[in-house]
Amino acid sequence: MKIDFKAIAEKYGTPCYVYDFDNISKKYKELKDAFKARKSLVCYAVKANSNLTLIKHLSNEEAGADCVSVGEIKRALISGIKPYKIIFSGVGKKNDEIKYALEQNILMINIESFAELKEVEKIAQKIKKKARISVRINPNIDPKTQPYISTGLHENKFGVDMDTASRIYIYSKNSDHLDPIGIHMHIGSQLTDIEPIRQSVKIVANLTKNLKALDIDIKFFDVGGGLAIKYQDEKLIEPKDYAQMIMGELNGLDVTIVLEPGRYIVGDSGYFITQALYEKMNGEKRFIIVDGAMNDFIRPSLYQTKHKIEVINNKQTKTLCSVVGPVCESGDFFAKDIYLPITNSNDIVVIFDAGAYGYTMSSNYNTRGKASQIAIIDGKDRLIGASETFEDMIKLEKEYL
Ligand code: LLP
Repeated sequence: MKIDFKAIAEKYGTPCYVYDFDNISKKYKELKDAFKARKSLVCYAVKANSNLTLIKHLSNEEAGADCVSVGEIKRALISGIKPYKIIFSGVGKKNDEIKYALEQNILMINIESFAELKEVEKIAQKIKKKARISVRINPNIDPKTQPYISTGLHENKFGVDMDTASRIYIYSKNSDHLDPIGIHMHIGSQLTDIEPIRQSVKIVANLTKNLKALDIDIKFFDVGGGLAIKYQDEKLIEPKDYAQMIMGELNGLDVTIVLEPGRYIVGDSGYFITQALYEKMNGEKRFIIVDGAMNDFIRPSLYQTKHKIEVINNKQTKTLCSVVGPVCESGDFFAKDIYLPITNSNDIVVIFDAGAYGYTMSSNYNTRGKASQIAIIDGKDRLIGASETFEDMIKLEKEYL
């Protein structure tokens, strides 16, 4: 869909995020459809974009939610996701978070260590529940992605090795307060190579077969998230190929396939809209200074990722420049050494593919309020998150002054 970025900027002010909800539905359905030959549950990874209206939109599409904190579980619940479609992942869950998840009767808790399992058992016993659990397996496979978003190697903090997993399952089977119903893996994010995923699914499927032989009835096989989107010229894994590969590896296993996609669902539906403030030259170096900054959208600074950037309605010749924000750090940039036209102040500069890990990773650094969020639904725009005011930012400190 063609979005009138200038009109949005004029109406809502900048910086702001815009999300194309129709594209989000399309991506969700594409993935869900690819698995239609089997029972499947798509649990959207809320961390990618936790806007309430966006979650509600996915809930209307029948999605579940993959959450990594009580906050995310609460967001999912108030946005209409049913508890039995919520899973709780994360390597360091706190007691009160575990208790809350159990009280809400969510589908399952993904266990990341023996110590955590014991804690879950203790809490379940105390509140007289049987905790449905799944174990995150670390298959020790290199996903061949960016090191910060790679999770499936033993050198990463995530999941447990096969031996520990087997011990956890046997222990759980014999516990009155644990019900091992799932198995889980997630080897990394922005995955563009299907082979490491295939190898991991194979390893985890084998373990599942062994567990079933021990009368441990695994009902949910959670392949995690990680499907990539196109930021530059990445070669992508097609949902159909992904689904065929997984269904092939799980042939003969009676399980519901659970998916935890975040970026794939929302990444390329989001745009970060900012406004050019000034142009400046430092010697030979040209800079476009915009009103958005690293506190709003940190991916380029944090991961050195490259996002497509356009200056709207500007036909001037493109020359080499960097796009930077007003924050007092040299790390505050959206792009370095790219070609863009000379901007006039008030030109609209759009950063593409900002729907995932954009707003959710934003902060108040430099006491900058968070940006507003706008949805485009059926071609119409609608505010789904106001920009943060100065009062909002200081409210937790002001009373102690
Ligand atoms: N499941 C688990 C257990 C995860 O840790 C993650 C992401 C997902 C699912 C969703 O992954 P996705 O489908 O979105 O790739 N901030 C980084 C990405 C961090 C990903 C963390 N875990 C970025 O901006 O690239």
